[in-house]
Amino acid sequence: MKLVILDTAEAIAQRAADEIEALLTAKPNAILGTATGSSPLPLYDELTARCAAGRISFAEVTGFMLDEYVGLPEGHPERYATFMETNLRSRVDMRPGALHGPNALAEDLQAACQEYEEQMAAAGYCDLQILGIGTDGHIGFNEPGGPLDSRTHVDVLTEQTRRDNARFFNDDIEAVPTHCLTQGLATIMEARKLLLIATGEGKAQAIRELVEGEISAEWPATVMQGHDDALVLVDPAAASLL
Ligand code: GLP
Repeated sequence: MKLVILDTAEAIAQRAADEIEALLTAKPNAILGTATGSSPLPLYDELTARCAAGRISFAEVTGFMLDEYVGLPEGHPERYATFMETNLRSRVDMRPGALHGPNALAEDLQAACQEYEEQMAAAGYCDLQILGIGTDGHIGFNEPGGPLDSRTHVDVLTEQTRRDNARFFNDDIEAVPTHCLTQGLATIMEARKLLLIATGEGKAQAIRELVEGEISAEWPATVMQGHDDALVLVDPAAASLL
């Protein structure tokens, strides 16, 4: 795992976009794993700008989202499908329908998880997976305590995650869903390259555990230590406990 500390969120976005530009130049039909949350937003802005400038194209790219809330209706602004459509898919030249996510509207959620895992397996999993990190160390929505070899599954959000994400729901924790579908840790680890972005003091403890802690279910992101091509991009605030 390689850690790079950069001064600003913009510098992180540039560096992350360089990685994706290199991938798309070498492999225009790459499989890209996308993440939600605020951390990757500057990256999506930068990818949009590079696409508009003709430096990169997503025309042949297939995308797989990490996770999705259960219980939000189609079109809800905080549905991750809506978030990715708004912040990336519709802003670049990616084909409508080329960005896939687990179907949290399905009646049988277990079957939907299995179907998503099979779809990713059939595509050969991701060439590059973009990741953020929760303050409790989750990646995707793999909350602490779950098995390290998990595949796409239904997870229960921790109180801490629901509190963290209440800012997107008018600061109303009751409005934050309690359940989600998420790629498992083993699903995420299938990606040929992992690219994690973390900014701000709130992520400092999770980054310390990720970089200096033992691999442990208590800090799910630590599984990344076992990946042979993982890049962690952080700002000085997120690196402040190292
Ligand atoms: C959510 C997402 C995660 C993301 C995390 C961090 O919980 N499911 O994939 O990494 O938020 O969000 P932020 O980047 O806004 O801090």
